[in-house]
Amino acid sequence: MSVSLPNKPIKRTNHSVVSEFVLLGLSNSREIKLFLFCFSSLFYVFSGMGNLLIVITVTADPYLHSPMYILLANLSVIDLIFCSIAAPKMICDLFRKRKVISFGGCIVQIFFSHAVGGTEMVLFIAMAFDRYVAICKPLHYLTIMNPRKCIFILVLSWTIGLIHSLSQLTFVVNLPFCGPNVLDSFYCDIPRLIKLACMDTYELEFMVTANSGFISLGAFFLLILSYIFILATLQKHTLGGSSKALSTLSAHIIVVVLFFGPLTFFYVWPSPSTHMDKFLAIFDAVLTPFLNPVIYTVRNREMKMAMRRVFGQLMGCRRII
Ligand SMILES: *[C@@H]1O[C@H](CO)[C@@H](O)[C@H](O)[C@H]1NC(C)=O
Repeated sequence: MSVSLPNKPIKRTNHSVVSEFVLLGLSNSREIKLFLFCFSSLFYVFSGMGNLLIVITVTADPYLHSPMYILLANLSVIDLIFCSIAAPKMICDLFRKRKVISFGGCIVQIFFSHAVGGTEMVLFIAMAFDRYVAICKPLHYLTIMNPRKCIFILVLSWTIGLIHSLSQLTFVVNLPFCGPNVLDSFYCDIPRLIKLACMDTYELEFMVTANSGFISLGAFFLLILSYIFILATLQKHTLGGSSKALSTLSAHIIVVVLFFGPLTFFYVWPSPSTHMDKFLAIFDAVLTPFLNPVIYTVRNREMKMAMRRVFGQLMGCRRII
């Protein structure tokens, strides 16, 4: 079953002859390409600026040095990395006739998207836990959540993200590829890549789907459950601050649903043959990282006031405070 051509220099493994993949991209229509170019570049720039704004504000404003905002700033850092994995290459490739990605490039994209995605999921759970403690156990908040706990949470999230990503990679790095090498997408993802391997990959596909799909579904249900729990507590004790808590909480829920919605679609949908999933992928690549800061800041008065303070000081007009 090993396909090796004796007189060709073969690098990585002795049976792979494919060293790069051809990406089909999104569409051949010039209008759609133009639209996608404007849409993606615009939202890519907005994502970058919005998330940078959050990181700067939280770092610079002493009032925002609570666990909720520390975790939020870290989420923004993750979003900054996340939107830079596939979007820049997609934007540069849009008007290219021949779009290729090397095997190494493909592995890098897969590695970072799973590492960052896995980390983000754990961070979402940590943020839900933070809200749970703040709302359901307010008297113990300071003993349960503190900046040192945040460091622990971050190390844990990145560790889980890396383990998840490396375990996914072990499924694909040694696959034999002997052509065809055409990926009907604008980035590398494991389900599509596996289909190109020249061996029977049924079991492998199942493992990959189980690893990504069920972990993300598990995290999703855990999050939804914890939010239901918090909402139920909020309803029982209608305290003065409950409308503020509710607005913070709804921001969290919207972000979580936006993150998991497309993801669930990719991994759980039986046949990824429709074009729908490609457009959903763009949504995930540029729009979700953009929406996170929008949702968290537009709905959060504290954040807006902090931005005014920080940027007021930067501009030298202290009276704005
Ligand atoms: C991310 O979390 C760590 C650990 O709590 C914290 O020290 C750091 O300031 C956070 N990052 C940002 C950008 O706020």
